[in-house]
Amino acid sequence: MPTRPIIEPFRIKSVEPIRRTTPAERKKLIEDAGYNLFLVPSEAILIDLLTDSGTSAMSTEQWAAMMRGDESYAGSPSFTRFRNSIVSIFGFHHVIPTHQGRAAERILFNVMCKKGDIVPNNTHFDTTRANCEFVGAHAVDIPIPEAKEPAHLHPFKGNMDTAKLTELIEREGAKKIPLVMLTVTNNSGGGQPVSLGNIRDVKQICKKHGIPLYIDACRFAENAYFIKLREPGYADKSPRDIAREMFSYADGCTMSAKKDGLANIGGFLCTNDDLLAQQEKDLLILTEGFPTYGGLAGRDLDAIAVGLNEALEEDYLQYRIASTAFLGNHIAQEGVPIVQPPGGHAIYLDARAFLPHIPVSQFPGVALAVELYLEGGIRSVEIGTLMFGEHATMDLVRLAIPRRVYTQSHIEYVVEVILDVWRRRDNIPGYALTHSAPFLRHFTARLKPLG
Ligand SMILES: Cc1ncc(COP(=O)(O)O)c(C=O)c1O
Repeated sequence: MPTRPIIEPFRIKSVEPIRRTTPAERKKLIEDAGYNLFLVPSEAILIDLLTDSGTSAMSTEQWAAMMRGDESYAGSPSFTRFRNSIVSIFGFHHVIPTHQGRAAERILFNVMCKKGDIVPNNTHFDTTRANCEFVGAHAVDIPIPEAKEPAHLHPFKGNMDTAKLTELIEREGAKKIPLVMLTVTNNSGGGQPVSLGNIRDVKQICKKHGIPLYIDACRFAENAYFIKLREPGYADKSPRDIAREMFSYADGCTMSAKKDGLANIGGFLCTNDDLLAQQEKDLLILTEGFPTYGGLAGRDLDAIAVGLNEALEEDYLQYRIASTAFLGNHIAQEGVPIVQPPGGHAIYLDARAFLPHIPVSQFPGVALAVELYLEGGIRSVEIGTLMFGEHATMDLVRLAIPRRVYTQSHIEYVVEVILDVWRRRDNIPGYALTHSAPFLRHFTARLKPLG
């Protein structure tokens, strides 16, 4: 029996035109942008897969909730709805609103860490690492070894290496480790999920040594759905129940509501520790705002309160994960090398394997991202030598899928564009840098094609 097409579990009420450009226009636009897709105006992009962060389409219920937003400085009912929604899913005692995820990270590390401390994580996201290192602590990544092999199939490639965690705690001493973090799903590791078994094991190790466990919860709903699909014993549980169990093992979390909050801005920090919560709120008042708004408008708090619940709806999660897998599986079937298996929010192309004739020093990830734009107006992002310099172990091109924004036909178009580039891959040139900033150079770098 033929399988039925993936359909979006929503219909479209408000449309936003996207603009087609000609190949000649794109050639000129990318040349003017120094072959850096960050520098191309978004009106000149047909399908924008630069990030899934803050790019979600909001629902009618979220827009309605925004109209209910109460902009009182203190004690707004919008905050009550925001807190209730978070407590019912995450179960933590204290909820501290922030303007986005990195603000929650900054407050957490400022309060919990000092110079010389160590924070283990499956893989720190770049803002998490930066905020941890900013207070003088060391951010240590200990994913399972399979996470480092793009082609290796593993159902929970986001898991932490628990043997390495134990070894690290025994070697350095628990006093030097103020918290352990788990990022669900593991964004920097390919959007791969963490199993409940792994969360439980990590918690046990932490408990034995008296170390709190915090979850970087940005993509908690996608992680919960992967557990439902892949972890024995969870097929009949709802994503909400799975999420509750995930957080029941943690002492707190950081969250960017720009991902599974289905909002365009916002975040929060949670903890069960009364003393920490007080210190965190003191710092919040200094830099973000009063604890009942934390740098957000009342309407943002209301949009997040609704979005967190919608992100856990099974119809939505089924479509989201199936649509991302459709993209990954269709290109992989034709031989395109990707990080396997397809993650929750993005597909990562392995540019070193895609363009083996381009040496790492000539930025194969940039070369591939430029061709996807030239071929079909698609914007992706290089995660490799341009972003990380000599520290890069892989050259990937991430195609991050905004939530509820593109339809199945957009995804089919992306498949066709990638395959067209794949067929003519032997003639794609490498690149050289012509301008480079001293740090975070990928945002503003300018390059030129070689040969
Ligand atoms: C895993 C993870 N943690 C933290 C953040 C930071 O969130 P924000 O961009 O809202 O500051 C991100 C953002 O992409 C992320 O993917």
